[in-house]
Amino acid sequence: MGFDSKYFSEAENELSDIRLRNSEILDRRAEEISVKLPEIAELRRELSGTLGKLIAIITERADDAREKISALEKENLALQERIRTVLIKNGYPSDYLSPIYNCKLCRDTGIVDDRYCSCFMDIVKRRAAEKLNSTTPLKLCTFDDFSLAYYDDTLPTELGPTARKVMAANLETCRRYAENFHLPYKSLIMRGKTGLGKTHLSLSIASEVLNRGYNVIYGSVPDLLRKLDKEKFEGGEVLDMLETADLLILDDLGAEMDNKLYVSVLYSLINARMNASLPTVINTNLTIKELEKKYDERLGSRFLTMEELIFTGSDVRVQKGAE
Ligand SMILES: Nc1ncnc2c1ncn2[C@@H]1O[C@H](COP(=O)(O)OP(=O)(O)OP(=O)(O)O)[C@@H](O)[C@H]1O
Ligand SMILES: [Mg+2]
Ligand SMILES: [Zn+2]
Repeated sequence: MGFDSKYFSEAENELSDIRLRNSEILDRRAEEISVKLPEIAELRRELSGTLGKLIAIITERADDAREKISALEKENLALQERIRTVLIKNGYPSDYLSPIYNCKLCRDTGIVDDRYCSCFMDIVKRRAAEKLNSTTPLKLCTFDDFSLAYYDDTLPTELGPTARKVMAANLETCRRYAENFHLPYKSLIMRGKTGLGKTHLSLSIASEVLNRGYNVIYGSVPDLLRKLDKEKFEGGEVLDMLETADLLILDDLGAEMDNKLYVSVLYSLINARMNASLPTVINTNLTIKELEKKYDERLGSRFLTMEELIFTGSDVRVQKGAE
């Protein structure tokens, strides 16, 4: 499988911006130092002089070129050391004038050992994920605008405590889930009737985990299946991204048409992620019984291994409509 080549050229552009920005920072630092610490400016002139000497030795082709080069090397290292010492003495970090790299592995070239560096592939994946997520405003819902006031705090629910207590615990679980997100990590399944905040909390998780720099893919199951359908369900870019994203959020599981092919696609997706210890957050309107009926036993047993959050209360969508 491969990502669309446009994401590779976007990643190359992004790296070249990074290189440009870092070299501008370095230029500014050199300028600053040449004004504040003329001593260093002199040392740096000597240092660049060693390059001229090296070229001279090479063109000369003298018999003792080898010795001359190694002497020059020593001179060069000693100058670098003196520069570092002066920097430190004046309260600067010793590498203040050294090249700046965001990725030490590939020095922002995107390549190590003739292969794409992981930093480069991270950019490619992020770009592709942004495209896939572009239909959902992922940053719209946050934990902070999730209000517990919509849930009754007087009557016990079928779960025992009041709806507010149950939902306060769910909110807390989701918040902690997002704040502690790391890999490998557990999966969650949120179940409950319509309008109780499942999508809201799922999006809040997505937004927080994205902010923490992870690759998150969010989609409603019917929508994702339509996209997979376009790829003929054959290991295309979308399937690969769903299988390998750091976090996959499957919204509204069960809202898709009954279809054997869908069941097997969902099973192999969820199973592939579990085998790779990658977490999935699922939300659904269906009860366990309905899930068992709609999906097969293999998928049912995968759901059972996920941490379950039961949503309860009365439809917030309706309450908000009446406000
Ligand atoms: N506790 C809450 N505080 C503030 N807004 C909420 C809360 N719960 C839900 N909402 C809002 O109410 C609307 C419906 O909520 P949401 O879409 O999250 O419900 P759902 O459980 O996903 O429903 P469905 O099963 O129909 O998909 C959304 O606009 C959401 O932002
Ligand atoms: Mg929903
Ligand atoms: Zn790199």
